[in-house]
Amino acid sequence: MTTGVDGPGRPVLPPILRGQKALVTGANSGIGKATAIALGQAGADVVVNYVSGRETADEVVREIESFGVRAYPHEADVSQEDQVVAMVARMVEEFGTIDIMVANAGLQRDAALTEMSLAQWQKVLDVNLTGQFLCAREAAKEFKRRGVVPEVSRSAGKIVCMSSVHQIIPWAGHVNYAASKGGVLMLMQTLAQELAPDRIRVNAVAPGAIRTPINRDAWATPEAEADLLGLIPYRRVGDPVDIADAVTVLVSDLMDYVVGTTIYVDGGMTLFPGFATGG
Ligand code: BGC
Repeated sequence: MTTGVDGPGRPVLPPILRGQKALVTGANSGIGKATAIALGQAGADVVVNYVSGRETADEVVREIESFGVRAYPHEADVSQEDQVVAMVARMVEEFGTIDIMVANAGLQRDAALTEMSLAQWQKVLDVNLTGQFLCAREAAKEFKRRGVVPEVSRSAGKIVCMSSVHQIIPWAGHVNYAASKGGVLMLMQTLAQELAPDRIRVNAVAPGAIRTPINRDAWATPEAEADLLGLIPYRRVGDPVDIADAVTVLVSDLMDYVVGTTIYVDGGMTLFPGFATGG
């Protein structure tokens, strides 16, 4: 069976998350899927959240189980308070607790400002920003209740906010998305400041252009891909596993002193590549 995360040159992950319980939202495709699998490969038990597409969630679960850890799929819309509350409550029942929350679920509804409906604006803010608030809140309640268990981890819990280079790069035609990710940056930093005294680590991972369904138009043809590569100094489009591995190491105790920061995993997209020859 292919693991979905193994690629040429990728080192095999040691079990740096053995005994930990993780929940990944939006885990049946793209970055969330690769992340859920990588966390399982690193020894964590994993809840595979999805909002639609049960079969793909089941496939991810089977792949995670092949590493000898536990996993199950859970359908929930992260923008709905009751569904997020129920999802975390069930996880505590099934797995005993939660150690790692990866608030990954996100979407785009692109339009020029003058064409953008309130529904398009609201949907993106609801899922990308309110969804992360709800997931972080429910995880933090359990982290605080349980506290640090030194045999499991040096911290009482880890929250990873899946952000984007667009938390700092303005993006014409995507104001709802860019505003949501700008919000995620301040959500993450404020929660990190608030929760650090409880030994809870909150950080963000900010992907650049990663080959997933969300941005298919940007890489699907050779012309589109060539344009995209002009924005990436490292001159390759990212793969979901690039993000999955960053998340896995970030939530492990190897990164125990990393609190309230953003790890950009973007091939240098945030280096203002236009200035390499201009300015
Ligand atoms: C967006 C992608 C885009 C990338 C770089 C991501 O956050 O979801 O559609 O390709 O940023 O611009």
